Amino acid sequence: MSDTPEVLETMPMPPRIAERLGDRYVLHRPWQADDLMGYVRSHCQNVRAVLTQGHGVCPAEMIDALPKLEIISVQGVGYDGVDIARARERDIPVTNTPDVLTEEVANLGIGLVLAVTREIPKADAYVREGKWLKGEMPFNRTIVNRPVGVVGLGRIGLATANRLAALGAIVSWHGPRPKPDAPYPYEADIAALAAKVDGLVLTCPGGPATRHLVNRRVLDALGPDGWLVNVARGTVVDEKALVEALMTRRIWGAGLDVFENEPKAPPELFELDNVVLQPHQASATAETRNAMSDLAVENIDLHFAGKPVKTPVWS
Ligand code: 8YV
Repeated sequence: MSDTPEVLETMPMPPRIAERLGDRYVLHRPWQADDLMGYVRSHCQNVRAVLTQGHGVCPAEMIDALPKLEIISVQGVGYDGVDIARARERDIPVTNTPDVLTEEVANLGIGLVLAVTREIPKADAYVREGKWLKGEMPFNRTIVNRPVGVVGLGRIGLATANRLAALGAIVSWHGPRPKPDAPYPYEADIAALAAKVDGLVLTCPGGPATRHLVNRRVLDALGPDGWLVNVARGTVVDEKALVEALMTRRIWGAGLDVFENEPKAPPELFELDNVVLQPHQASATAETRNAMSDLAVENIDLHFAGKPVKTPVWS
C-alpha cells in the first residue's frame, strides 16, 4: 500500500481543489458513478480524508463505509450535510471554511434585499420591454428607517445586520438564544419578530434545529407587505408554504439564493414577478470560492502534517 493519502470528493468540487492537492494525494472523484455508495464500498477502503461542500453530503452511511477515515474537510461554512454526531463518535475531525466568505455572503444578502424591495429585476424588465415609454413604474419599497429582522446573528448574520444598519434600516434579530454582546435588540419568538418588521433576512445555519423555522405562521406574521430574503439554507423555510404565500400575495416578495431541493427551484416561482432567484451564489465569486478551496485543502494538509487543523468545527 502506498503512503500517499487517499482523498474522496463526494461531489464535484472546483478544479482548484484537485490542483492544490496535486500529487501529494490520490483523489477519488466518484460523483459520476451511478452507485456512489457502491463505489465507496469497493474502492475507498483506504480513503483517509473526505472533501465535500457546504451543501454537500457526508451521511453516517458514508462515514461508516470508510474504515480509515481521519478527517472531513468541508469547503463551505455550513456543514449540515455532514453527520456530525457520527463523525464525533468516531473521533473524526470536521473542518469548514468560516470567515473567508462572511463579507461576500452578507453582500449578496444585501443585494437581494435591495433587488426585492427596490424591485431591480422588475425595473430592468420595465425598461427593456418599453413599458417606461407608456408611463412611470409604480413606486417600490424602502428599508430606510424601516424595521428589518435578521435570523441568526453569527458571523454572516452580524455582517448582514451591520450592512442593513449602514443602509438606514432599524435592525433586530432572532436566534436560539440572546447574545450578551449583540449590538441589536433580540426577539425570542420568530413570529413575533416577523410581525414587527418589514422583512426578514435568513443567515442562520441549516440542519434539523432550524428546519422549517420559517413556516406559514411566520409568513402570515410578515403579512402582505412583508418580504423574505434567504441566504442561509433552503431547509430553513417551508418552501411549499412560501410558494403559496408568494403566489397568493400573502407576502410581498422574496429573494432566494437557496432552496430545499437544489438545484431544483420550485417551477411555480418562475412565473412570479415578486421573487428574485439565485442559484446558490452567495459565496460564489472567484476570489472567495478560491479562498474557500485553499482553506479546505490547507486543513487536509495540516492534518496529514500532524499539525492542528486551522478551522475545526469543534475543538
Ligand atoms: C456553498 C455554502 O454551498 O458555505 C456554505 O455553507 O452554502 C456555500 O458557500 C459551497 O460550499 C461552495 O462550494
